[in-house]
Amino acid sequence: MPTKFIQLTDNHLSGVHGFFYENFCKAAQAINARQPDLVINTGDVSVAGVDRREDLEFARACHDLIDAPIHFLPGNHDMGEIPDDSKKGPPVTKERLDRFKELFPADRWTIEIENWLLIGLNSQLINTNLEEEGEQLEWLTELLATAEKQVGIFIHRPLWLVNPRTREPIEFSDPPSWRDQLIMLMKAHPPRFMATGHLHSYRTLEVEPMLYHFCPSTAYRSNLQIDGWDARLGFMEYVFDGDDYVASPVFPTELEQHDLVQVKGGNRKMKLKHVPASPPVLTAT
Ligand SMILES: [Fe+2]
Ligand SMILES: [Fe+2]
Repeated sequence: MPTKFIQLTDNHLSGVHGFFYENFCKAAQAINARQPDLVINTGDVSVAGVDRREDLEFARACHDLIDAPIHFLPGNHDMGEIPDDSKKGPPVTKERLDRFKELFPADRWTIEIENWLLIGLNSQLINTNLEEEGEQLEWLTELLATAEKQVGIFIHRPLWLVNPRTREPIEFSDPPSWRDQLIMLMKAHPPRFMATGHLHSYRTLEVEPMLYHFCPSTAYRSNLQIDGWDARLGFMEYVFDGDDYVASPVFPTELEQHDLVQVKGGNRKMKLKHVPASPPVLTAT
């Protein structure tokens, strides 16, 4: 019997800045209509969960609109920026990690279904030197070394943007140190796929021996202009059947295609959390 999962990501919800709340409600309806067995959220559920606990609480409550059970992973908006990227905002701290774990069931996890082992990783621990970073790496090493099933990995930040062998600016992808470490681990025990968020764009790419799925956001479109990327808003659907799986993007036409610069009143440099408050009109939470 095939198992259906939905991956959604980058919802950027907040009770103060409600620009993307309506889209989330519509996405939740579209997800429920597909009757998935499970939903995975790969992070950036909030606008500013790093500073505002209430944003995380609000985002968590919004997910009650989804009928299926949900597994969450933190994004940079929820838990802070990794040290390599700390110019972009408040850094990851133990306090921010603990807050996420207090409000969401876990920051990393495994799911076993039939012939598959799915692993959810916390990308925000990378290079933090927190105890939990080492624990996660040990845990992952052990999981990959002993896995007897097909493996799929879910994580917020992608390992790379265009090609794992290039050295890209880390604002789009993971730092090379972590990337190299993970690629080494995966070489010995290759997963079938890696599924990420963070880029607010869809693409599926094959880089032997794996497929990389980049999940679209439900909140706002990416301004990245790269051939082959689709910035329409939506989510991913995965159907697992035996040793096979099919991953497809879903772009519900009812989602409003928000442009971030427009939302910020044309001020490209302004942080979303500093835009004048615009609370959501609550319809269902
Ligand atoms: Fe995001
Ligand atoms: Fe992100």
